[in-house]
Amino acid sequence: MLKEMGRASQAVLLILCVLRTVKAFEMEIIPAERIVAQIGGTLILTCNTTGCASPSFSWRTQMDSPLGGKVSNHRTYSTLTMNPVGVVNSHSYLCTVICGERGKKEKSVKVELYSFPSDPIIDISPSLVAGEPAPVICKIPDVYPSHHLEVLLKKDGQVLHEEYFLYDDSTNTETKTVTYTFHPMAEDAGKEITCVARLPIADMDFEPKERTSSQKLNVNFGPQNTVITASPSNSPMAGDSLNLTCVTQSNPPAQIVWSKYLAEESIQHVIKNNVLFISRVHFNDSGRYICEAINLVTNKTEEATVNIVIQGAPVITKLSIEPSTTVQEGQNVSIQCSAESNPPPKIILRRKSDNADIGTSSARSIFLPSVMFQNGGDYECVAENKYGNSKSEITLNVKYGPKNTVITVFPAALKEGETVTMKCTSSGNPAPVISWKKKKATGEFEKISKNATITIQNLKSQDLGLYECEAYNQFGKEEKAVELYVQARLEEPDQMIPFIIAFSSVAAVAVPAAAILIYVARQAKINGSYSLVKALRLKV
Ligand SMILES: *[C@@H]1O[C@H](CO)[C@@H](O)[C@H](O)[C@H]1NC(C)=O
Ligand SMILES: *[C@@H]1O[C@H](CO)[C@@H](O)[C@H](O)[C@H]1NC(C)=O
Ligand SMILES: *[C@@H]1O[C@H](CO)[C@@H](O)[C@H](O)[C@H]1NC(C)=O
Ligand SMILES: *[C@@H]1O[C@H](CO)[C@@H](O)[C@H](O)[C@H]1NC(C)=O
Ligand SMILES: *[C@@H]1O[C@H](CO)[C@@H](O)[C@H](O)[C@H]1NC(C)=O
Ligand SMILES: *[C@@H]1O[C@H](CO)[C@@H](O)[C@H](O)[C@H]1NC(C)=O
Repeated sequence: MLKEMGRASQAVLLILCVLRTVKAFEMEIIPAERIVAQIGGTLILTCNTTGCASPSFSWRTQMDSPLGGKVSNHRTYSTLTMNPVGVVNSHSYLCTVICGERGKKEKSVKVELYSFPSDPIIDISPSLVAGEPAPVICKIPDVYPSHHLEVLLKKDGQVLHEEYFLYDDSTNTETKTVTYTFHPMAEDAGKEITCVARLPIADMDFEPKERTSSQKLNVNFGPQNTVITASPSNSPMAGDSLNLTCVTQSNPPAQIVWSKYLAEESIQHVIKNNVLFISRVHFNDSGRYICEAINLVTNKTEEATVNIVIQGAPVITKLSIEPSTTVQEGQNVSIQCSAESNPPPKIILRRKSDNADIGTSSARSIFLPSVMFQNGGDYECVAENKYGNSKSEITLNVKYGPKNTVITVFPAALKEGETVTMKCTSSGNPAPVISWKKKKATGEFEKISKNATITIQNLKSQDLGLYECEAYNQFGKEEKAVELYVQARLEEPDQMIPFIIAFSSVAAVAVPAAAILIYVARQAKINGSYSLVKALRLKV
């Protein structure tokens, strides 16, 4: 019986138990246990009940600090909304539920905070200069709790600097800054600088715990290692093309200015381009060329120079006569020849009609003090080296007044009635104009011919007398005279009164009887030299 009673009561108990299970008063906080919340985010704590018809909720922090959120009570649950979550919410929150007769229950949950909202910000000058200090600033915004913060600065994967904030006691989010100064090198151009920020809190469950940012380094450098290459070579042949290329290392690319040293240390700016191209080189392109590379950012310049020597056969650059190719006798004249080439030419300057060189073989000038008409003529300059030679000619025209005026009479002696020819020649430049005059009985001279040669036929006594030849050009005049006179009378019965005519060359003004030529034979030549004694002896 007892046994049965026991069974029955067990059943009742069981029923009671079932009833009790259905209506048991319970509570929970969602989320349960530790909560890791990001500062600035939203956190809702829900205090939920079961088994209580009209629970009353209360929230508080364990330290009785302000809640830092809004409570919203519903029939069976209450929410505490923290929006935004701030450092004030770093507490253990306690939810207390009173369910009338059924008593009171409470639970707590710990809210832990962090803040790591964004990637680091790298601040580095967009244009660094190689070798000069470059500060890198890495900012990690709104970090909390910062004493966990670790920051690494890396260059191309290699750690430059690391910093820990172990003793940082910030009580709120703070932007942490790491500054590090390094000296970038030219080879760092294009490499990456990376800032790695870590917030490694092992027992806090949030992601990410590591944030990184990178920035490419723009390192300005140079110009450096500036070199010139000459193509085809530093000593091209005249007429070849020549490329001078200037190569330099520079970031940003350097400006190139080509120039050339001229005489007197002056400089001629040639071209702003890294290639200096000359399609046909001349000897005067020889010289020292400078390539100047300018980096406008680093404000540096570097120079390279190259000596160019143009090779080739000589070119006569000058063949001239000073003061002029046409001069007057007596002027100082110099003839000059110059040629250029490499190797240097041997220059020969000479009068063409002369066989021998004038002066030494390398004479480049001839000086003719007080030039004579004999010095006139063609002059030749020959310049020669192993590649060949070149020749040039120039004519020296020496002007002079008439000279060497000579009268020739043919025949040298003759008889009345015969024909005599008188010829006047003179040299001069320009060729003198010759004219003949005859002295009249009045003593005046009469122009008788503009020809150099006069012929008198059937010579009569009135043809005797003084004849004067004048040679004239703009540089002067020269006069010569000849006298026709009776040298001897021949007593020949069968003739009328024949006489022998002779002549004497006389100076134009004074008329001395210089020579008396006597008719000997028809073949007598005017140039023949006859002794006066012999001649007189013939006189009958
Ligand atoms: C409270 O708990 C009950 C039972 O577990 C559930 O059905 C209900 O959705 C919860 N209420 C809230 C607001 O979480
Ligand atoms: C020089 O450069 C030009 C182009 O810039 C090229 O056509 C030419 O062949 C080059 N000449 C030499 C001699 O290198
Ligand atoms: C160089 O020589 C060439 C040919 O002889 C000439 O045409 C050119 O003007 C000269 N240039 C200079 C700068 O003298
Ligand atoms: C460049 O350098 C020169 C002297 O070396 C100086 O006068 C000039 O101010 C500099 N310019 C810049 C932009 O730094
Ligand atoms: C000509 O040259 C001579 C030296 O040979 C000099 O004494 C004279 O003065 C010069 N005459 C002129 C006009 O230059
Ligand atoms: C000069 O001589 C030429 C031939 O020699 C002759 O024709 C001409 O008439 C002469 N003139 C005078 C003015 O005698």
